[in-house]
Amino acid sequence: MWKSYDELEVLKGVSFELKAKEVKVIFGPSGSGKSTLLRCINMLDPPDRGEVYLSGQNLMEPRINLNLIRAKIGMVFQHFNLFAHLKAIDNVSIALRRVKSLAKEEAREKAFKALERVKMTEWADHYPAQLSGGQQQRVGIARALAMEPELILFDEPTSALDPELIGEVLQVMLDIAKAGTTMVVVTHEMGFAGAVASEMIFLDGGLVIERGIPHNLLTSPKSERVKHFLKQIDILYGRHEELLKESSEENK
Ligand SMILES: Nc1ncnc2c1ncn2[C@@H]1O[C@H](COP(=O)(O)OP(=O)(O)O)[C@@H](O)[C@H]1O
Ligand SMILES: [Mg+2]
Repeated sequence: MWKSYDELEVLKGVSFELKAKEVKVIFGPSGSGKSTLLRCINMLDPPDRGEVYLSGQNLMEPRINLNLIRAKIGMVFQHFNLFAHLKAIDNVSIALRRVKSLAKEEAREKAFKALERVKMTEWADHYPAQLSGGQQQRVGIARALAMEPELILFDEPTSALDPELIGEVLQVMLDIAKAGTTMVVVTHEMGFAGAVASEMIFLDGGLVIERGIPHNLLTSPKSERVKHFLKQIDILYGRHEELLKESSEENK
């Protein structure tokens, strides 16, 4: 797909396919078009050109019902985007009521089940301001899960968190990935990518520079650009190769 903002070409022909239950990781430098790509997939900001299909349905179709897309594609944001005036449980149930038109009790029940999956039932009646960043993000994930979407998009879900809170969110993401959730995840958490991604895509300047299975991409990248980028991540996050080893050990 292609996307420009005025003169600025942000996506210059990015294309990929995702099967059910697959996890795809997108990474790359700031400004490379990662968030734009996600917004093009869920039609929050449709591409100028290209095609987006979800289970055989063309989302670019002019008469497509946007509510249907909201129901089928979940989104988890970097800054959680919870409603400050709503308790955790209501943050999760509100879309069930509004988009899926569920009755109050049924929405609450489903919301509670989603909070269970992210281990947040104890905090159901707390407001976002009373929760840590990691807890808020787990509510954000529960909100997406509760809709039972066909696909969940994650836009750097851990990059606004203090380091000690990242683990709890990654653990939840690992759990739901292993449970068969179809996910596109923009992240620089290479341990997570190594553990569950079927493919990693490195984006730079709106183009796919390199793609491949995590093992190949993380241990023997072909392009200098990716090598350089992974070195920078090494400095920031520790050694990704060891993370990769650990996560594949855990998978055995
Ligand atoms: N709504 C917008 N209007 C104008 N420019 C935008 C808009 N959204 C993103 N951009 C620009 O597009 C480029 C890619 O942005 P983005 O997709 O957010 O990158 P990333 O998520 O990889 O950091 C950036 O140069 C950004 O300034
Ligand atoms: Mg972004």
